[in-house]
Amino acid sequence: MATQAEPRLTGEEALAIVDPANYVDWDSLLDRFDALRRKTPVVRVVNDEVHDPFWLVTSYDDVMRVSKDNKLFLNSPRSITFSDKNSGAFVKSITGGDPNLVRSLVALDAPIHPQYRRLTQDWFMPKNLRKMEDEIRALAKVTVDRLVDAGGEADFVPLVSAPYPLHVVMQILGVPEADEQRMLFLTQQMFGGQDEDLNKSGMANMTPEQVMQLVVGAVADFEAYFAKLTQEKRANPTDDVASVIANAKVDGAHLSDRDMAGYYIILAAAGHDTTSASTAGAMLALARDPEQFARLKADRDLLPGIVEEAIRWTTPVQHFMRTAAEDTELGGQKIAKDDWLMISYIAANHDESIFPEPRKFDASRSPNRHLSFGAGAHQCLGLHLARLEMKILFNELLDRIETLELAGEPKRAKSTFVGGLKTLPIRFSLS
Ligand code: HEM
Repeated sequence: MATQAEPRLTGEEALAIVDPANYVDWDSLLDRFDALRRKTPVVRVVNDEVHDPFWLVTSYDDVMRVSKDNKLFLNSPRSITFSDKNSGAFVKSITGGDPNLVRSLVALDAPIHPQYRRLTQDWFMPKNLRKMEDEIRALAKVTVDRLVDAGGEADFVPLVSAPYPLHVVMQILGVPEADEQRMLFLTQQMFGGQDEDLNKSGMANMTPEQVMQLVVGAVADFEAYFAKLTQEKRANPTDDVASVIANAKVDGAHLSDRDMAGYYIILAAAGHDTTSASTAGAMLALARDPEQFARLKADRDLLPGIVEEAIRWTTPVQHFMRTAAEDTELGGQKIAKDDWLMISYIAANHDESIFPEPRKFDASRSPNRHLSFGAGAHQCLGLHLARLEMKILFNELLDRIETLELAGEPKRAKSTFVGGLKTLPIRFSLS
C-alpha cells in the first residue's frame, strides 16, 4: 500500500490524548477516538516538551495486527504504558536503565517471555480455576453481605467492585487478609495513580526526591515481603499461584528475587483494578436498565453475555505501548525501527466497522470479539479468572437483590492507563 504524508497531532489535540483528565468524560473521549479513526487511524502524537513522540493506533484491525505480531512489535525496549519524559527518566534512575519499573511478563519479549508465561499458564486455565470456585464464592458472599448491610443505598465501587477483586487476587497470591491493605498501599506507592481521590499514598504533595525515596522503599518492601512468602511456599506449597511461582524453575534454577517479585507484582496489579472496572460497568448497565436486570434475574443463562459485553463496553485497560523492531508500515504510515506506538483498546472496541452501535450496551452481541484482553502472545493471562469472578459475584448479587436503580451520577477516574468508575451510587431492594 502507498504510504501518505505523515499525519500528526500537535498542540492541544496532542496533549488531549495524554491528559488523564480527558479520560473522565467517556463520551467526549469516544468522540475524539472516533474522529481520529475515521480520518487518521494511525497518527503521530507529538508534544516535544512532554513526551517522546508515538503513533496512536485507533482501528480494530491495526490494534489486532500490532498485538499479534510479537516479533515486529516488542514490549521490552520502552515503557509498556504511556510515560512522560520526567517519569521515564525517574524509572530509569531507579532501575539502572530499564524503562519499566518492574520486570514482569508484560515487559518481557521472546525468548524469555514464553518461558516465564508457561510457568503459570496452566494454573490460570478454567480446569484449575474450578478448584478455586468455592473460595471465590465465599469472598463474593462476604462482599454482598456488606452491600446488603448498607441497607438500600450505597456506593457500589468502594463497597463491592473495588475490594472484591483485590481479595481474590490476594487469596491466589497467598497473602493473608491482615496484610491486604499493606499490599494495596505498596502497589499504589509504586505505580502512583493519576486520580487524587484514588491515590492514597499522598504522593501528590511530595517533591520528586521524596517520591523517589517512597517508590524505592516500596519496591524493596514488596521484594522483602514476597521473599519471605517464597520461603514459606517452598517449605509448605499449597494450591495457590504463589506456590507455583515460588517453586518454578527455568533452566533448572529458581527465579531470581527480582523476577519473582515482578511476577507477584504483575498479578497483584493486573488483577484488581481491571476486574473492578468491568464489574462496576456491568452494575451500571444493569442499574440503568431495570428491565434487563429483571430478565437476568429470571434467566441466568444471560449472565455470560452481560459479563462479556461489560468487559468490552468498559475496556478497563485503555492502552498499552509497543516498540517497532524494524522499519514497517501500518495503516498506510511508515513506521521506523524503534518508533513507539500506543494501541488504544478503547478505540478498537468502539470501531463501528466491527461493533454495530458500539456505545450501546448490548449483551446479545455475537460475536463479541473485543480487544479488552488484548491479543497475541501477551493476551491477558487472567481472562478466565476475571470472567469467573464476575459471574460468581453477579450470581450472588442476583440472588439477594430484587430491584436496582441509579442513585446519583457515576464518576470515572482520571487515568490514561487502567480506567473505570470510581463511584457508582445505587439504590436497591432485597429479595
Ligand atoms: C495482560 C486486560 C484481569 C493478569 C493483560 C493485557 C490486557 C489485560 C489488555 C495485555 C494484553 C496484551 O498485551 O495483548 C485485563 C482486563 C481484566 C484483566 C480487562 C479484567 C476485566 C486480569 C486478572 C489477572 C490478570 C484477574 C490475574 C490475576 C494479567 C497478566 C498479564 C495480563 C499476568 C500479562 C500477560 C503477558 O504479558 O503475557 N490484561 N486483565 N489480568 N493480565 Fe489481565
